[in-house]
Amino acid sequence: MKTIRFILSAAVLISAIGCGAQSETDRKVEALLSQMSLQEKIGQMNQLSGGAWLKDEAAAGNVGSILNCSDPKEINIVQKAAVEESRLGIPIIASRDVIHGFHTIFPIPLGQAATFNPAIVEKGARIAAIEATASGVRWTFSPMLDIARDPRWGRVAEGSGEDPYLDAVMGVAMVKGYQGDNLSDPTSMAACIKHFVGYGAAEGGRDYNTTMISERSLRNTYFPAFKATAEAGAATLMTSFNEIDGVPSTGNKWLLKDILRDEWGWDGMVVTDWNSAGEMIAHGFSRDLKHTAEQAINAGVDMDMMSYGFIQYVEELVKEGKVSEKEIDRAVRNILKLKFELGLFENPYVDETASAKVDYAPEHLEAAKQCAVESAVLLKNNGVLPLSAARTILVTGPLADAPYEQMGTWAFDGQKEHTITPLDALREEYNVIWEPGLAYSRDKNTKDFARVRNAASRADAAVVFVGEEAILSGEAHSLSNLNLQGAQSELIAEVAKAGKPVVVVVIAGRPLTIERDLANCDAMLYSFHPGTMGGPALADLIKGKAVPSGKLPMTFLRDAGQAPFYYNHNNSGRPCNGTETLLNDIPIAAGQTSLGCTSYYLDTGYGPLFPFGYGLSYTEFEYGKPVIENAELERDGVLRVSLDLKNKGKYEATEVAQLYVQDCVGSVVRPVKELKRFERITLAPGETKTITFELPVAELAFWNFDMEYVVEPGDFRLWVAGDSASGEPVGFVVK
Ligand code: BGC
Repeated sequence: MKTIRFILSAAVLISAIGCGAQSETDRKVEALLSQMSLQEKIGQMNQLSGGAWLKDEAAAGNVGSILNCSDPKEINIVQKAAVEESRLGIPIIASRDVIHGFHTIFPIPLGQAATFNPAIVEKGARIAAIEATASGVRWTFSPMLDIARDPRWGRVAEGSGEDPYLDAVMGVAMVKGYQGDNLSDPTSMAACIKHFVGYGAAEGGRDYNTTMISERSLRNTYFPAFKATAEAGAATLMTSFNEIDGVPSTGNKWLLKDILRDEWGWDGMVVTDWNSAGEMIAHGFSRDLKHTAEQAINAGVDMDMMSYGFIQYVEELVKEGKVSEKEIDRAVRNILKLKFELGLFENPYVDETASAKVDYAPEHLEAAKQCAVESAVLLKNNGVLPLSAARTILVTGPLADAPYEQMGTWAFDGQKEHTITPLDALREEYNVIWEPGLAYSRDKNTKDFARVRNAASRADAAVVFVGEEAILSGEAHSLSNLNLQGAQSELIAEVAKAGKPVVVVVIAGRPLTIERDLANCDAMLYSFHPGTMGGPALADLIKGKAVPSGKLPMTFLRDAGQAPFYYNHNNSGRPCNGTETLLNDIPIAAGQTSLGCTSYYLDTGYGPLFPFGYGLSYTEFEYGKPVIENAELERDGVLRVSLDLKNKGKYEATEVAQLYVQDCVGSVVRPVKELKRFERITLAPGETKTITFELPVAELAFWNFDMEYVVEPGDFRLWVAGDSASGEPVGFVVK
């Protein structure tokens, strides 16, 4: 291997001239960089979509990374061209959107967040990495850390929802899972934290739309998950499509240099989103493609995904002095460092027989099932669930036997032949009468409804699987109406007419507005697209072999008109005072007075349908009063709060206890409450456990009036409860 030979000799030379502080990897990077022509450097900064046909580009040294190929044979073909035919033999990195599993598909990230279980999320990411790397993919564009407060935005499916703390915990878990203990392990896959930043705040939930986020809000709400995952060692970061205060992220020096490098000291590699450099022309921020390359590189971008601007214009830009070689070297250093860290120089090729040995391994399927069990949220139960006594059940609805749809968005490599649907799994447990009712979620054809109702009357209970096809959520799939599509609500209502217990299972990519459907059923389980093993997971929950423990990672709305809606909003000057006057309360020809004078809608009232953190169980939990060890704390102290949690019911079950804190008075207005800790606790029937949360006071810091990150002394309140709207506050003071 000529590359390795050359590197070693150059490395010896560099160490001989004394670069004592450099790491071994830095030495290798410098040695290689010193041999590269400008055009070879620019080639490394170019990422192209495709497979084997890119081999000539690789041989010419025109491509540093490929994306969208997951065929090991094709990856090896491109790699061979790069390693054996290009002048310096620098390997490519094969990348892919491995978002919630590779072949074994786990629940969508929003569902994973509903588990409130970072351990199962880390395990899922590890399994995704084992399967993807066995096909040659060493870099995934995940986790997506975009805070999502508006369920109309289709990409809420891909992230952890609305809360910065949950987002950070889940993001760190994914980074650890993908990257493993050491990037050079052949089963490690570099993570990519995305989209930096604010992409989820698109106005009106319209994908790619503009955002309005103040610097303080960026720092308090949108940055924390990026900072936490950067500190956890995320190897790469992707810029976002949107602009922040008029500057597109891909050309935003403040974000990519001042914050990321200077403030946070992060030393990973920055890639653009798909043609997000090129899109700066449409934004009206760049004159032409050449200008985009200049702005992106000078802002701090290292690699260009699919705008072709770098490869075409950077040589010229350097000659014209518009981009310095120093910037180019910075970018190429970051790229080469990643390649060395991944061990690609030593082991560039993938064993083409490897994937067959690991894909859909029994332990992968078992973990995917467990994750799907924990991700389902019980929203209503008047006692019909679990259906342990029923023998004959009607199974109906367009999501009951939809193996492709239940995998959800970004499941490129998941094969529907390996998916087990709820219908398959329920047939193992019950005598099933199967009537689809509707062919797909948008279907409006009610011709079979009478038959479905008739079948319901012959069954002990009916289970109706409704929701969204995979294509209705994810990128570029925003919706303004969040009701169940097609005639699905009518199907539920029709089944209810039979007078038998009705269980509704929603399988969807986002929080839908399901208030009217709740009224027509006895129980509702909400399963965010649950993946390959969704069927067995849901069947276990329905039968009572497993007990629901999921909690909502996003606020559920009564009506899409309430969006954006999130629990941790700032205090308003007119908070809810409990006296909402609603539409029907208003007299005809009422005088022109303000009604209630608080922040609410006349039609939907003040609250959401279900608050963040909400989720029922088959058992009932009783929260004792939180006791604070020391209610007067120094700023370097640790808050310790304990309480008893009791399982009052008949089932062993797991509860997610949540600690929320409010900073009562600040130099700037503070949120009404913020999640600071959570813990999953499993209790036997009748069992009580004392749980203790520890929270360093330093974690109460925020970006204050002077834009300093400080804990401001004063009064605080905390709640420990099973959701963000419950519990009685207990006060403490920071001195
Ligand atoms: C998405 C990214 C994704 C990239 C590559 C873009 O359209 O916004 O999240 O990683 O495509 O597929």
